[in-house]
Amino acid sequence: MSPRDDGRKEAGGTFPLGRLIFFVTNNIHKFNEARMVLSKFNIATAMLRMKPPEIQDDNIENIAKTCALRASEETGLPVIVEDAGLFIDALRGFPGPYSSYVYRTIGKEGILKLLEGCGDRRAEFKSAVAFSSPNCEVKVFKGSVRGMISRTIRGESGFGFDPIFEPEGFSGRTFGELSVEEKNMVSHRSRALSKFAEWYRSLRHGSNRQSF
Ligand code: IMP
Repeated sequence: MSPRDDGRKEAGGTFPLGRLIFFVTNNIHKFNEARMVLSKFNIATAMLRMKPPEIQDDNIENIAKTCALRASEETGLPVIVEDAGLFIDALRGFPGPYSSYVYRTIGKEGILKLLEGCGDRRAEFKSAVAFSSPNCEVKVFKGSVRGMISRTIRGESGFGFDPIFEPEGFSGRTFGELSVEEKNMVSHRSRALSKFAEWYRSLRHGSNRQSF
């Protein structure tokens, strides 16, 4: 029996598409950021704590896509999965898709060490948000924000590399020194999620609604 023959497929069809989405993540910070962005589009966000096996790929879109497909197949629900990474110009885009591993191993301190004596501090956060639902083609939405890697670790808010990333437009403050509202004004994640939300809310009355 395929995972979609056991009734879960029908469950997906009963959800108010365009109004409610399941965000697959174990990261409460990501979830809170997403909830706030999507609520502006009148989309309610539920946190779905599961960890579909993360594939290794040097492209964050592929990672998000594969995880979203697996999660919607397993649950029969309309889901989004987000994959993000920090791309540092002087390191030719490293750690990029390996950001999670690099964060767990050398961390923020390690990144600052790698850039010691380096004048070029330019970097970019990138986000890929993949939507998947039973009987629907996966869609991916991208967002990014440019900024600088700080010389010291500053700020207590957020998560991951937030305390060493100074986004453009905030006078050198790091993401770690911003509120969630401020981070959401420019972040890679909020930009990708806003694109998703524009599209998703159009399904409320759209003709493609029945395809879910
Ligand atoms: P993930 O695979 O999308 O969870 O992201 C990989 C890694 O990138 C995370 O472990 C974080 O260290 C880092 N990261 C992703 N997004 C952000 C962000 O918004 N702020 C700070 N670090 C982030």
